Amino acid sequence: MIRFLSACLIISLATTAWSQNQTTKAQKGVAVAKKGTPKVDAKIDGIWKTCPKYLVNQPIAEVLEIDPKDMATATVRLLWDDRYLYALWVVKDSELSADAGDDWAQDSVELFLDQRQDKSTSYDTDDAQYRVNFEGKMSGQGTGYDEVDIKAATAKNKKGYIVEMAIRTHAADMKVGTVMGVEFQVNDEHDRAQRDAIAKWFHTQDDSWQDTSTFGTLELK
Ligand code: BGC
Repeated sequence: MIRFLSACLIISLATTAWSQNQTTKAQKGVAVAKKGTPKVDAKIDGIWKTCPKYLVNQPIAEVLEIDPKDMATATVRLLWDDRYLYALWVVKDSELSADAGDDWAQDSVELFLDQRQDKSTSYDTDDAQYRVNFEGKMSGQGTGYDEVDIKAATAKNKKGYIVEMAIRTHAADMKVGTVMGVEFQVNDEHDRAQRDAIAKWFHTQDDSWQDTSTFGTLELK
């Protein structure tokens, strides 16, 4: 009897550990957006303080030219409403510069969106890359990119800068339960008019601008 009970206990502990592990794995690469409409002014309205923060702090080894402790990193928070996805970025970056010729090499943040989450290996009409540098200059690429779809505001602070973005979503059904593909990136132009580091949220390769299959998941809650 005792042997039977201990066997049951071991099985139940093992099952709990396994399911906890599954939960952790399932949540890695999942970002949740709450419903709400912020004012896009680079100020942290009260509603943002209720949103979970996602860390954009994983270096891409192949493009890392500086000590990773000096690399620019960010937290991102998300909101949505009937027409827009909103992202608030708080970026830590000790030296701000937009001297590099390429937009993607300047101090900037990038949000990659696969609105239908069809995970295509090239960009389709529902896929786009939206970029905002620390001075508020907007740019982007991808079949689904249209500059009229993005609004943004930026502000510098003691530790770096803030970017608040609103992205008009055309292909996604903006309702609770909708999922999209998403990735977040911070470009760091450190001190040489070139990009010295990239920090990412989920997939640590420099390929999100051309392949949506490795994005994480965004859930509208
Ligand atoms: C990438 C660059 C790429 C650019 C194109 C950036 O996200 O990091 O390597 O050239 O996108 O838009």
